[in-house]
Amino acid sequence: MGIRLMALALIPMLPHLPFGQSSLSTSPLGIGTVKWGRTEGLKHAPFSLPDDATLHQLLDAAEAAGINVLDSAPAYGLAESRLGSLLASRPNRFHVFTKAGESFSHGASFWDFSESAIRRSVENSLRLLRTDRLDAVTLHCPRHDLSVLSQSDAPAVLSSLKSEGKILLSGFSVMSLDAGLLAVPHFDYLMVAWNPGFLEHQPVIEAAALARKGILLKKVLSSGSFTSVSPAESLRAARNLPGNPVILAGTINPHHLRDNIAALT
Ligand SMILES: NC(=O)c1ccc[n+]([C@@H]2O[C@H](COP(=O)([O-])OP(=O)(O)OC[C@H]3O[C@@H](n4cnc5c(N)ncnc54)[C@H](OP(=O)(O)O)[C@@H]3O)[C@@H](O)[C@H]2O)c1
Repeated sequence: MGIRLMALALIPMLPHLPFGQSSLSTSPLGIGTVKWGRTEGLKHAPFSLPDDATLHQLLDAAEAAGINVLDSAPAYGLAESRLGSLLASRPNRFHVFTKAGESFSHGASFWDFSESAIRRSVENSLRLLRTDRLDAVTLHCPRHDLSVLSQSDAPAVLSSLKSEGKILLSGFSVMSLDAGLLAVPHFDYLMVAWNPGFLEHQPVIEAAALARKGILLKKVLSSGSFTSVSPAESLRAARNLPGNPVILAGTINPHHLRDNIAALT
């Protein structure tokens, strides 16, 4: 056995649990890929885009640990196209959650939740991710997320795309408590910000768990700005929330990924 394989063999496996009422079983840890494709306009400390060899190291370690969720978005710069190419040699190993509604260009975000924009975004994601059906599409909401629910076509368009077989699951990325609670019955899963210093949206997690919806957690590591709580403590506390949440810990560092896996096994 080579040194690399021996190292991978030492990584403990994470269990797979039902993702809401969907047909997916998911690992409690997933990887957020915003830093895989974009460096501008983020809260994180400055960094350079990782090379392909580093991303393959991350994917090797993820596979060895049983991680099967990757979270991406059209607004994450090169992330979707890089995933399409990186995953070509790893068919059916990961569920790629992507998004629609937000785009990012020349340092700024733009939102469009019209039917034509959502359909165009999904077609583009299908092409970049080199698949004929997306596992999951999350509405990538702006700060005023209530308007996405009450004034846009987007929730209905995602339902149509499910019926057409272009996507399997639809989700909503929560920006406000009111919209999060309102969104629960209308989507297969909710993406909710949670960390020990930000508990304001926890009622959405509890409502989603009660309704047996899937739950994705974002910002569990406070986007890298730790205060009194360590990354391992944040991850363990998040794992104990109701509803078998999937923690989308963002990383481009294989050592951090290894630590995050160890914290949950
Ligand atoms: N509106 C939305 O839909 C939305 C918004 C925010 C996030 N998200 C999703 O959630 C994912 C995660 O969000 P996020 O990146 O903002 O926040 P996060 O996961 O809370 O934090 C990621 C940061 O923590 C650092 N980190 C990871 N593991 C670490 C460890 N063991 N020790 C020390 N530092 C560690 C990473 O640095 P290294 O790279 O150096 O490890 C990275 O800068 C995103 O990638 C995205 O997929 C979605």
